[in-house]
Amino acid sequence: MAGCTKFPIMIIARTLTDLRAACASLRAEFGGLTFVPTMGALHEGHKTLVREAVASGAPAVTSIFVNPLQFAPTEDLSRYPRDEAGDLAALEACGCALVWLPDVATMYPPGEATTISLAGPAERWEGDARPGHFRGVATVCAKLFGQVRPDRAYFGEKDWQQLQVIKRMVADLLLPLEIVGVPTVREADGLAMSSRNRFLNPDERAVAPALYRVLRSVAGDLAGGAVAAPVLASAREALTAAGFAVDYLALVDGPTLAPVETVGTGSRLIATARLGPVRLLDNVAIG
Ligand code: PAF
Repeated sequence: MAGCTKFPIMIIARTLTDLRAACASLRAEFGGLTFVPTMGALHEGHKTLVREAVASGAPAVTSIFVNPLQFAPTEDLSRYPRDEAGDLAALEACGCALVWLPDVATMYPPGEATTISLAGPAERWEGDARPGHFRGVATVCAKLFGQVRPDRAYFGEKDWQQLQVIKRMVADLLLPLEIVGVPTVREADGLAMSSRNRFLNPDERAVAPALYRVLRSVAGDLAGGAVAAPVLASAREALTAAGFAVDYLALVDGPTLAPVETVGTGSRLIATARLGPVRLLDNVAIG
């Protein structure tokens, strides 16, 4: 891999001064940077993002920061999985050039009073289920983009709404970078890879792939011209019968996340369904 030969030694920055110096020297030598923001506990989905960033030819910077601002008070921030040593080894193997490991005080300095206010694609769905979540995601990403100043940043399509929120923010704030969406990486049985999957017990894990199976079947029906409302209703019933508590299963316009009644260009099927305490998110294109 090009990145492995170019960057035999991965730089680790823990202060903003070190990050800025490393970014400046990589940018001076290679002419640009790519970026993958993460919260760590890296799985194959994250590694795919990093490999994509590396394969683009510019040095890849990855951040690991468990962002408190995107967790609600009811959500257990302390339970979020952490594995710094494992993550660093994985990033090095992927050919990452620089890892940014900020602390909370750097990202949220004393007296901080500025966050990103969102509408459009941040409304509804996860925006309703997790009030304040996207404000936290957008705020931390804006800060990270300002610190790293990448030419491109890579996000997984698995979190479809997050990807659209970030694209909208970058367009609206005229930020000088491109957001690249990368297709969802799945287990062999179709379950979308997620840091939350580790919290599924064996019975839940056996049921979990049904979410993707049902989404694909609905997408096939809709692509074949079926009327959306009854197909969506029977898919919700099928998921409930399989043991899921369905938060939503909806046909939306891909970029805006607005619900639509008929399939159009860029329509997306999005779903969140709970198995025990674990919320599983997934989405598919139609056709
Ligand atoms: O998708 C995630 O892991 C996080 O929401 C992100 C984009 C790293 C921001 O904290």
